[in-house]
Amino acid sequence: MTAPTVVSNEEVGPGIWLMWVEASAIAGTAEPGQFAMVRCSDGHDPLLRRPLSFHRLAPPRIAFLFEVVGRGTEWLAHRKAGDAVDLLGPLGKPFTLHPRSKNLLLVAGGMGIAPLLTLGDRALAEERSVTLLLGARSQDRLYPLSSLPLEMEVDVSTEDGSAGRKGLVTERLPDFLPWADQVFACGPATMYQAMRGLAEFPKRPVQVLVEMPMGCGVGGCYGCVIETKHGLKRTCKDGPRFELAEIV
Ligand code: FES
Repeated sequence: MTAPTVVSNEEVGPGIWLMWVEASAIAGTAEPGQFAMVRCSDGHDPLLRRPLSFHRLAPPRIAFLFEVVGRGTEWLAHRKAGDAVDLLGPLGKPFTLHPRSKNLLLVAGGMGIAPLLTLGDRALAEERSVTLLLGARSQDRLYPLSSLPLEMEVDVSTEDGSAGRKGLVTERLPDFLPWADQVFACGPATMYQAMRGLAEFPKRPVQVLVEMPMGCGVGGCYGCVIETKHGLKRTCKDGPRFELAEIV
């Protein structure tokens, strides 16, 4: 089996990189919402792998969207086409699409678009309707709209009003919820808190992806636990997909 190899790696926003990797064994079985643990060095420094969600799946290729936040992701941003990358995956629980859901609402805060886009791709391929509420701090932090599928309805919000509507992405939710059969979200904890504060939400199941620093990525170290109504759960093994109402 050939090692995963970088196909392309480009900066799509300030410090935000889109890397395509040829990784047939992983791409063939990966599901939207799952992730890979990516080695981010040639040696042992940094020692820990970084969890990166599958951003797009086009077997035998996978795309990762990541932000440079430290030495590991800086190293990753310097990988070039033809370089080998060491991936462990697919890992974690994927999103669950109900067979009867026709209308899907995706809510992405900032880098939260990373795992949601491949879910949108999958849903569109199954002839479902997809609306994406896409939020960012400002226009320069916004995911490139030209990279979104044409069939996807997109509603843009920025906190400073430099693109789309001015405000938080969660403020757009009440307008779209009556249409949606299922809701999926990924973003910072503050976004989930805002969603929980909406009057509509106790009645609506919402699948969210939780981002936590991870050690092993496979359930062994308990370095990624979150508190839920059913006790402590490991983000890597019991998640990263949880019900919004389940998280304490
Ligand atoms: Fe080790 Fe989750 S990262 S248990």
